[in-house]
Amino acid sequence: MQGYTELLFRDVYAEIFSGIDVAVSPFISALPEGRAKDREWNDVLPELNTKMPVIPQVMGSVADDIVLLANRLYDLGHPVVNLNLGCPYKMVAKKKKGSGILCFPDELDALLERLVSGMKGRLSVKTRLGRHTRDEFHTLIEIYNRYPLEDLTVHPRTGVQMYKGDPDLDFFESVLPGITHRVIYNGDLWSLDRFTALSKRFPTISDWMIGRWVIPNPFLPAEIKGDRFDDETKLSLLKQFHDAIYARQVERLDGPGHVTNVMKAFWVYFKDAFEHGDRLFKPLRRLTDLAAYEAAVEQIFAGRPTLAG
Ligand SMILES: Cc1cc2nc3c(=O)[nH]c(=O)nc-3n(C[C@H](O)[C@H](O)[C@H](O)COP(=O)(O)O)c2cc1C
Repeated sequence: MQGYTELLFRDVYAEIFSGIDVAVSPFISALPEGRAKDREWNDVLPELNTKMPVIPQVMGSVADDIVLLANRLYDLGHPVVNLNLGCPYKMVAKKKKGSGILCFPDELDALLERLVSGMKGRLSVKTRLGRHTRDEFHTLIEIYNRYPLEDLTVHPRTGVQMYKGDPDLDFFESVLPGITHRVIYNGDLWSLDRFTALSKRFPTISDWMIGRWVIPNPFLPAEIKGDRFDDETKLSLLKQFHDAIYARQVERLDGPGHVTNVMKAFWVYFKDAFEHGDRLFKPLRRLTDLAAYEAAVEQIFAGRPTLAG
C-alpha cells in the first residue's frame, strides 16, 4: 500500500509480529526505459529486505517500460514481479494504468502478451473485477487464463467503486471456478471471524492478501496460522507497533510537521483497532508538535481503550 507498507513498516511489522509469508511492495511506477524513482526502487532492494520477503509490484501502461523494469528487478534478485491492475484512482486510470486498462481488453491482452514474452522472470497479477462493471471480468478471465501467470490476486470490487461498498462475493464465487490460475483473495479481510467465513465459503483458496486491515489488526496473519492473543497482549503490542513506527519516522523525516502528517495517515487505519477509534483519533488531528503528539498518544493508551470487536 502506497504511503503505508514501505520497508520501514515491513521491518517494524516483522520485528513485532509474524504470520506474513510475503509482502507485495507498494507499486513502482514504470518510467521510460524501465527506470524507477529512487525511493520506489530502493524499497525493494534485496539487501535491505531481510526481515520480510517482498515481491515488487509495478504499474504502467507502456509494455516496453514495464518489461525493462521487470527485467531490472529480475537482475536485482526478484524472480516474480506483480502487475498492478487494481489502482482505482482516476488520475491513474485515465492513463490506462491500474484498473484503467481493464475496460480495454484488447490492450490488456496485448500488454500481457508483451510482458510474458519479454520478461525474464514470472508475472503475477493483481486485478479488480473491472473498471466500470463486474461484467468486464468474464472477458478478463479469458485473457488471464491464456497466460502463464504466477498467480492472480482478485479484489472483487470494480475500479470505479474505489473502496466503497462490499466486495462482490456472490459474483466472485460464481466466476472463481473459471479461473485457471492460483487465486489469491483480497478485500475486507479484517478479522479472524471474517477469514474463517471466507475460507469456508472459498475452500479452493489457500492464499489471502490483507491490505488496510494489517494496520489496525496486525495480529491477523498470525491468528490465521493458529496463534491467539488476549486483549492485554494486543494492546501492549499495538502500542509497541505505534511507537516503533513513530520512532523510525522521527529518525527518517525532517521536521515535526512531516512526522505528524505521516503518523496521522497511519492513524486513519490504526484507529480501527479500537472501539470508538474516530473519537480517540480526533485530538491527534490538529497536532503538529511532536511533544504534544507523544503526550496525546500516551493518553490514549493510558486510557486502556477497548479493542474493536
Ligand atoms: C492508501 C492505499 C494505498 C494502496 N496502495 C496499493 C498499492 O500500491 N498496490 C496495490 O496493489 N494495492 C494498493 N492498495 C489496495 C490494497 O492493497 C487492497 O487491494 C485494498 O485495500 C482491498 O483490500 P483490504 O480491504 O484488505 O484493504 C492501496 C489501498 C490503499 C487504501
